[in-house]
Amino acid sequence: MKDILDAIQSPDSTPADFAALPLPDSYRAVTVHKDETEMFAGLPTAEKDPRESLHVDDVPVPELGPGEALVAVMASSVNYNSVWTSIFEPMATFGFLERYGRLSDLARRHDLPYHVIGSDLAGVVLRTGPGVNSWRPGDEVVAHCLSVELESSDGHNDTMLDPEQRIWGFETNFGGLAEIALVKSNQLMPKPQHLSWEEAAAPGLVNSTAYRQLVSRNGAGMKQGDNVLIWGASGGLGSYATQFALAGGATPICVVSSDRKAELCRRMGAEAIIDRSAEGYTFWTDEHHQDPREWKRFGKRIRELTGGEDVDIVFEHPGRETFGASVYVTRKGGTIVTCASTSGFTHEYDNRYLWMSLKRIVGSHFANYREAWEANRLVAKGRIHPTLSKVYALEDTGQAAYDVHRNRHQGKVGVLALAPAEGLGVRDEELRARHLDAINLFRDDARAQPLAAHGGVH
Ligand SMILES: NC(=O)c1ccc[n+]([C@@H]2O[C@H](COP(=O)([O-])OP(=O)(O)OC[C@H]3O[C@@H](n4cnc5c(N)ncnc54)[C@H](OP(=O)(O)O)[C@@H]3O)[C@@H](O)[C@H]2O)c1
Repeated sequence: MKDILDAIQSPDSTPADFAALPLPDSYRAVTVHKDETEMFAGLPTAEKDPRESLHVDDVPVPELGPGEALVAVMASSVNYNSVWTSIFEPMATFGFLERYGRLSDLARRHDLPYHVIGSDLAGVVLRTGPGVNSWRPGDEVVAHCLSVELESSDGHNDTMLDPEQRIWGFETNFGGLAEIALVKSNQLMPKPQHLSWEEAAAPGLVNSTAYRQLVSRNGAGMKQGDNVLIWGASGGLGSYATQFALAGGATPICVVSSDRKAELCRRMGAEAIIDRSAEGYTFWTDEHHQDPREWKRFGKRIRELTGGEDVDIVFEHPGRETFGASVYVTRKGGTIVTCASTSGFTHEYDNRYLWMSLKRIVGSHFANYREAWEANRLVAKGRIHPTLSKVYALEDTGQAAYDVHRNRHQGKVGVLALAPAEGLGVRDEELRARHLDAINLFRDDARAQPLAAHGGVH
């Protein structure tokens, strides 16, 4: 592995040098174990601790198949899907791997008693399989997390509709929280040159998801002037949705749960901000009943911030806890676009507010290659910035996932894999210098104020 790292860090390495590098037999990877999926049985979700279930193991390098690439991972990031995997909710991910393994001889490689997780990476291509022409050893890349087979016609208008669509590192093995990852070559995209490895690895999954959900015609199709209500506006998804709204001439109405998060949104450029914690919204009076008066109070607050207007789009992901309010506050003809249900999958809302006011609920999930490419292109041009707040070593990924699970983080949490230190891998200092403050916004905040001592608000 040292030779690989030396080659990556030497400015003189050529594609031929990378192609000639011997591959190691094994590599370090963050895993969950199949024989531990019941370890949290009976515990409430909030008490399940990723530090107990996430391991760092030495695992064999997988065989490289057609259309695939092995990538030396310099850095990765923690996504909420790593949290779900680590607490085995809503189900253990080994079921996904078993099902994938039944698809073909090649896919059988994924069905193992351990699962290498992680759905982001920034690194360098080491090897490409037969049929890969667009990428070669030595290319500096990021990878998006859409894995498709495309043997059915269904996926050929929008690859997210492929019946064999999977999220790499969640529904497939050999993910990015590791020193080496296996990806399909159509997951690869150029690494933004003005970013360090860990900065480049941070946006991937959430940036692409937010792009499709908010900007793409497959999602809400946001336009100039739209009012966009963004839940968790300083979180993983929300910190990119806020940037897309601002960059696209819309008005974000940012919902957060602390002063500090409100300040981050302000510094991104948002003006309309609701601190749900300070303003004490209680949409549910008990486990079974919501309080429409609280929806109304929330809607009134939005109108105060917009000069009397309702929201054109709600960027939804908290799910059960907020969905009733989201449907209520959307303007006539507006769109509630949802990609998740962090607080519960069974949503309840008053349907009269939907049909009588001709609103639409749109489901959105990750992004197709084109959408991920567009989202990455905006990062590469310095229009959208990483929201990396903190970086962990690979062996501390459990703690990183714990922080995200407890909502103690801001923006994105990064993980160094092969990169020996933070700040490496920048190739365009001039572009970086132009955007340094924006790139460091979330880091500076985290450095100024260490992690909240107590768990965040859920
Ligand atoms: N379908 C997809 O492709 C896709 C892609 C990415 C993520 N996701 C899912 O989307 C969800 C969010 O992911 P993320 O990366 O943005 O996570 P994150 O970094 O934890 O951010 C989520 C934010 O939502 C807010 N929030 C959490 N619980 C809430 C509640 N009960 N009511 C209101 N706000 C709440 C919190 O902000 P405040 O405390 O500041 O309000 C939190 O910071 C996860 O469930 C994840 O699995 C889905």
